[in-house]
Amino acid sequence: MIDLHSHILPEIDDGPESLEKSTQMAELYVKYGFTHVVATPHWMSGTLWAVSKETIFDSITQLRHALESKSININILAGMEIALDIGLVDLLVGKRLLTLAGGSYVLIESPFQRLPLGWQQVIFQIMAKGFRVVLAHPERCHHFYMEPDLLHSFIEAGGYLQANYDSFLGHYGTEATNTAFSLLEKGYLHLLATDSHDTEYRHPGNALKALEILNKTADAETVEILTRINPQRVITGLPLKTTTPAIPLSKKRKKWWFF
Ligand SMILES: [Fe+2]
Repeated sequence: MIDLHSHILPEIDDGPESLEKSTQMAELYVKYGFTHVVATPHWMSGTLWAVSKETIFDSITQLRHALESKSININILAGMEIALDIGLVDLLVGKRLLTLAGGSYVLIESPFQRLPLGWQQVIFQIMAKGFRVVLAHPERCHHFYMEPDLLHSFIEAGGYLQANYDSFLGHYGTEATNTAFSLLEKGYLHLLATDSHDTEYRHPGNALKALEILNKTADAETVEILTRINPQRVITGLPLKTTTPAIPLSKKRKKWWFF
């Protein structure tokens, strides 16, 4: 499996605080069947979380050496989780920000509360320059919870949605869980990723726990597209497949929920 959203790099954001912890995260990734991880540190304009791409490349090189020395076999690729900001287009066009694994996909972070004014224009400007926009964990954004039609418009405009595996485990509260299942049922999701930060709570193993639930609530083709086919297509630069809206899913979920 490929994880497209991970805070595995040490001492850059709110991920692991040491190279040793990063290495332990990598061991968990291998244990749970991942072969590739795109390291996506937070990038937030005007904050300490606005590291340069060179810092990320250096950190990846350091981690790769540590993994090689311990014979931990996993590919670490470069990326960023970019917070919405007015100036993003120029920074992307100027190659100062990283896309996912060097391709055309850009991972944009959904804010937890309100979306900033002008966010749609920023997204459209990025798309107009030939980038493909993936919105990370929209199920955790209260604004989208209150106005779900915004996500419909975003998808209609060519955007893609990435939900976190552990949103299906209830780790972010009822609102995020219900939104995650709702997006799944509507066929709005394109990708699942771990958004891992550590080895204890937000860690790679949550993907398998979530898959146990998803295999009971979604059809096999949908799960395959979200977890294997589309992550691979991001890496290879192909447009993502959509999943089929499944009205009976809510019934299936209730069935799983109560029995
Ligand atoms: Fe993240």
